[in-house]
Amino acid sequence: MFHKDIFPPQNSPILESSQIESGVKRIEKQSKESMQSNNLDRHIFYANTLFDFSNQLISDSDFDQLILKARKTGLVDAIAQLKNGGILNQTEHRKVLHTALRAKPDNRFPEEMQQHIDEASQVRVKMRRFVDELHAGHIKGATGKTIKYIVNIGVGGSNLGSRLVTQALARFRHPSIAVSYVANIDADDLYQVLQRVNPEETMFLVTSKTFTTFETMQNAIAARGWLEKQLNLDSTIILQHHFVGITAEVNRAVAFGIDPERTFEFWDWVGGRFSLWSAVGLPIAIAVGMDLFEELLAGARAMDEHFFSAPLESNIPVLMGLIGAWNIEENHAAGLSIAPYCHGLRSLPAYLQQLEMESNGKGIDIYGQPTKTRTAQVVFGSVGSNGQHAYFQMLHQGTRQIPTDFIAVAEDLNIFEGHQDQLLANCFAQSAALATGRIYPDEPHKTCAGGQRSTVIVLPQLNAFSVGLLLAAYEHKIFVQAHIWEINAFDQWGVELGKSIAHDILPVLQGHSSNCEVDNETQRLIKHIQFIREN
Ligand code: F6P
Repeated sequence: MFHKDIFPPQNSPILESSQIESGVKRIEKQSKESMQSNNLDRHIFYANTLFDFSNQLISDSDFDQLILKARKTGLVDAIAQLKNGGILNQTEHRKVLHTALRAKPDNRFPEEMQQHIDEASQVRVKMRRFVDELHAGHIKGATGKTIKYIVNIGVGGSNLGSRLVTQALARFRHPSIAVSYVANIDADDLYQVLQRVNPEETMFLVTSKTFTTFETMQNAIAARGWLEKQLNLDSTIILQHHFVGITAEVNRAVAFGIDPERTFEFWDWVGGRFSLWSAVGLPIAIAVGMDLFEELLAGARAMDEHFFSAPLESNIPVLMGLIGAWNIEENHAAGLSIAPYCHGLRSLPAYLQQLEMESNGKGIDIYGQPTKTRTAQVVFGSVGSNGQHAYFQMLHQGTRQIPTDFIAVAEDLNIFEGHQDQLLANCFAQSAALATGRIYPDEPHKTCAGGQRSTVIVLPQLNAFSVGLLLAAYEHKIFVQAHIWEINAFDQWGVELGKSIAHDILPVLQGHSSNCEVDNETQRLIKHIQFIREN
């Protein structure tokens, strides 16, 4: 029996009915009867994956309202637009077509969409050739040694998705190739990775949609310099043998000195944070093989098909999106905690942070007006059960409503017995405890009020298909929320301002300029650094 069947708790000697009421007092307008009726399918089992919304504690009438409202906003048409590759990134006049990256070339789509599906499939042919050659040991460095170490240099969407999936599928990795990731402009990130590789056997993948991102370019230049020094060869040879470019700006990669044969293209119709399905996923394919990469796409495609065709009432991403928005708007959720009870998914919180907050962290709507409601909340979290020993205390007894997404894996493929049962027991227990709470009338300090909402997602196994399905569900959730909030999920103008101020400050810190036009507080910080350096 799942814990959802015990809300509100039935036979607990500790919980009297009056106490239950106080325990769930944060849940407005909700009755026991409405929790038990069936308008909302609280457990959706699709492609062997369970999405259990029962601990979201939403009444049928609230749910019906959500669906009604969503229908009125034209959500069904919006989903069709996404399916057919509409220009949904209005501020950049770009089509939004990440689903084309995983659509089957033989599917029937509008002609323009079909062209993009074909383009994506051609790049995958090139990827497969490269991956197979690499795995066969045919790709050599400048000194003739076989490439064994792959270092992906990229940040944000050019890092988070492929890093997450590579970790998730670690047990399937190719035995003789090691894939590492460098993202941070802090040189320590690159330095730590370089400690673990042999320069003669190392290849860098420079992954950047724009091929101008300062972290990535600085790290790429540093990696090139390191190889020049280590191998005592000039940069042209180094770039030719040890560098691959993955970008929507092939000309820039070639101008950097990367062999056009070793550049893998993606396109402006793929948003950075939605790009792991494109050539950006090359490090995944190198780590686990192209067949598993295709499986990952198949999982995402299965979720696309569901999203494009299921009725709103039982459409997984629609429910994730609507219930999430309801938590923000009606229940004043202060954040969304992401708790994967699966070590392989330990980078999911970081990945979803970008996906949710860079996409929907917007206060201006598509008409240029302030949004009518609150939009994205703070996304944070950590792998379970570690999070239980860190921030979960606040979920149980704090003063804020903070829903959690629990992600568990039903069947473990690991070698040690007993761990998986502990993980699952704790995962389900946390969801139950957060929902039901427990009242200790004589010891208020022990009382957990309950009423904290959560979704439990159970993957059958941690494999490429289920990871693809999971990530695509979140992508579509974001889309649903952006639609109902009337915001553009596919631009990120907010990150530009900081970049431009950093651009002004940099020459001063480098000593190339004596001042820059920034506010007094920032001037003081710059002066502090100059003082420390001079003394
Ligand atoms: O600064 C944010 C951002 O633009 C993200 O949207 C993107 O994923 C990341 O930087 C990296 O960009 P690029 O792939 O162009 O290097």
